[in-house]
Amino acid sequence: MFMNCRRVRKWHFLQLVSMCCVMSVLMVCWDHVDHSVVSHVKSYSYRYLINSYDFINKSLSVSPKEAARFGSFPYLLNNEGVCKDKDVLLLLFVKSSPGNFRRRQAIRSTWGNESYISHQLGVIVKLVFAMGVHPVVRFNSSLQDKLHKEHMNHGDLVQQDFLDTFHNLTVKLLLQFRWTHENCAHARFLMTADDDVFIHLPNLVRYLQDLRRQKVRNLWVGHVHRGAPPVRRRDSKYYMPFDMYQWSSYPDYTAGAGYVVSGDVAAKIYQATQSLNASMYIDDVFMGICAIAAGVSPQEHVYFSGEGKTPYHPCIYEKMITSHGHEDDIRYLWKVATAPQVKSISSGLVGKLYCTAVKMTLLCKPYFTNKYSCMAAFT
Ligand SMILES: *[C@@H]1O[C@H](CO)[C@@H](O)[C@H](O)[C@H]1NC(C)=O
Ligand SMILES: *[C@@H]1O[C@H](CO)[C@@H](O)[C@H](O)[C@H]1NC(C)=O
Ligand SMILES: *[C@@H]1O[C@H](CO)[C@@H](O)[C@H](O)[C@H]1NC(C)=O
Ligand SMILES: *[C@@H]1O[C@H](CO)[C@@H](O)[C@H](O)[C@H]1NC(C)=O
Ligand SMILES: *[C@@H]1O[C@H](CO)[C@@H](O)[C@H](O)[C@H]1NC(C)=O
Repeated sequence: MFMNCRRVRKWHFLQLVSMCCVMSVLMVCWDHVDHSVVSHVKSYSYRYLINSYDFINKSLSVSPKEAARFGSFPYLLNNEGVCKDKDVLLLLFVKSSPGNFRRRQAIRSTWGNESYISHQLGVIVKLVFAMGVHPVVRFNSSLQDKLHKEHMNHGDLVQQDFLDTFHNLTVKLLLQFRWTHENCAHARFLMTADDDVFIHLPNLVRYLQDLRRQKVRNLWVGHVHRGAPPVRRRDSKYYMPFDMYQWSSYPDYTAGAGYVVSGDVAAKIYQATQSLNASMYIDDVFMGICAIAAGVSPQEHVYFSGEGKTPYHPCIYEKMITSHGHEDDIRYLWKVATAPQVKSISSGLVGKLYCTAVKMTLLCKPYFTNKYSCMAAFT
């Protein structure tokens, strides 16, 4: 017993010494090594600070008057009455651009078909396309005429007078929360999605109805990025200058491809935007900053994809919510993913085992696949 104790102590001591060694090497190299693994470790530890304290919202807070300048562009196209007097389960914003007529049409005739949703699923979902003005052919009146016509036919465009560019995505985010505050504050849930995303609306509606029954509040759900480090390479699309964001980790946020918040969160985020510097142009990161100010944190759902595309299989269709990177196959996917036989594929013990096996082979790969995570195979 006595011997054992001494050996244990020695072992502990060795562990401690080696730990200290590793730590000091890391500390010394910390600022010099710009290796991605190190920067991930670094930002991952840093994220606890970022997420737990309010120094970000403090340093980015501005006066309401200054904050208003970021998001008060006049409306060029609008339809204020979309939600009026309706019990809207979900207000679904699609981030579109003036030129993307085909994508919008594909969405309206598949997962965004409001009449399909209300007849088949018995709930009201309102679809709105958010956009600015075309940055190159800004004064091309024929493009704007075409948009007017589209709006006459469908009444689902909301356009503000800002240039529709990658670096103005945060302005588009502000548009969505402002519009919701002004015209659809009673919607139970708000979703924002890219126009090349496929959303399995029947699955999403079932999920949201469940949440509504449980009277869930404080909800922000999607594919969560935790402790992502800002990109400091100038040649990157996501380059983040130090002046704009000085910390080594972003707050936790959900991938902008598609996420859902509950109505109370939408209201809180809108309030937060009223006193924040919105020059941070990565919209989903800015959402993370607003969330810190609002005291909301994101939660993961394994069937919301980030950049990833869904594997094509009925066992997946049965559970999937979003999938990214669809343009030409959206009609095909809608047809196969909502086919009646999908619902029964995993019924019974045999069906369950079969689907688990299939999902494991599709999702649990030893290398990174950019699809749903392996966890999804077991839910
Ligand atoms: C929407 O769905 C309904 C059936 O619920 C269908 O009649 C209609 O053609 C669909 N609209 C489009 C644009 O595909
Ligand atoms: C203006 O927009 C129309 C419709 O999208 C397009 O066909 C036309 O080529 C554009 N004109 C210019 C000068 O870009
Ligand atoms: C964003 O839109 C505004 C208003 O049109 C414009 O002045 C600004 O240059 C745009 N910013 C970028 C980065 O495109
Ligand atoms: C917002 O932040 C940017 C830096 O990202 C800064 O240049 C700008 O002056 C700030 N705006 C206000 C109103 O503080
Ligand atoms: C920052 O957010 C916290 C809640 O997370 C809040 O208590 C605090 O008032 C906010 N600070 C500013 C300056 O907005």
